[in-house]
Amino acid sequence: MRKPLIAANWKMNKLVEDATSYGEDLIEKLKAENVDLKKVDVAVCVPFIHMAALKVIFLLRGVGVGAQNMHFAESGAYTGEISPAMLQDMGIEYVIIGHSERRMYFGETDEECAKKLKAAHAHKIRPILCVGESLSQREAKEHFDTVRRQLTGCFEGIGREDAAGTVIAYEPVWAIGTGKTATSQQANEMASFIRSVVEDLYGTDTAEQVIIQYGGSVKKSNIAELMSMSDIDGALVGGASLDAGEFAQIVNFDPDVVGKEQKVR
Ligand code: 13P
Repeated sequence: MRKPLIAANWKMNKLVEDATSYGEDLIEKLKAENVDLKKVDVAVCVPFIHMAALKVIFLLRGVGVGAQNMHFAESGAYTGEISPAMLQDMGIEYVIIGHSERRMYFGETDEECAKKLKAAHAHKIRPILCVGESLSQREAKEHFDTVRRQLTGCFEGIGREDAAGTVIAYEPVWAIGTGKTATSQQANEMASFIRSVVEDLYGTDTAEQVIIQYGGSVKKSNIAELMSMSDIDGALVGGASLDAGEFAQIVNFDPDVVGKEQKVR
């Protein structure tokens, strides 16, 4: 049974005061929605400066805190960077790696993502690895090749156990922040392709275990349908996660779907 993971990605948003009130509000709203955190994992991935406050608010409440990036080195002369050891020291549970905005604006490569994946696992931080094609790649029918190339590059040198513990988020670039969600069929088709690539790389057991999220204009109105698909085990939510009430409703997507049967293609 794959336990769903619904994660918020705030991106570069919110000031300290907003972050604190969001944290308290989210706990209240999850309670009001009767969300059973034994059945669904929830994480909020925030700018570094908000992590300490949220760790305190979420303490013993079952909501994880995640970073949106990190360096792969343990420590050293990397001005402006945050290391995996620092995140682990703070009790951070998740880290987003290879988000398309980091690939696009900061030139992050698959090779760097592989180093970050390895470092995250070495520090017991669960990575959420983002993959996905651009609009022109989809139009040129290169989306499967693109995603396969990203996965092969990012998993280079990663062992089977670490692969199984890596969350993969399929985020088609054309659906991010555009209001244009991939159809649930398109999203599931790619999620199932991703599972087949993991199977090629690591075997069936690993493919069955790996959590695959969809991300790109996820909101409360489309989450239930996305989550009903065979290979979609969660969501990485940008804009709609900025409101604690809407995010709690997304987390509470459909209790009947939680714990759905494993299906490998
Ligand atoms: P939106 O939900 O705002 O489209 O962002 C998706 C995303 O990039 C999550 O990482």
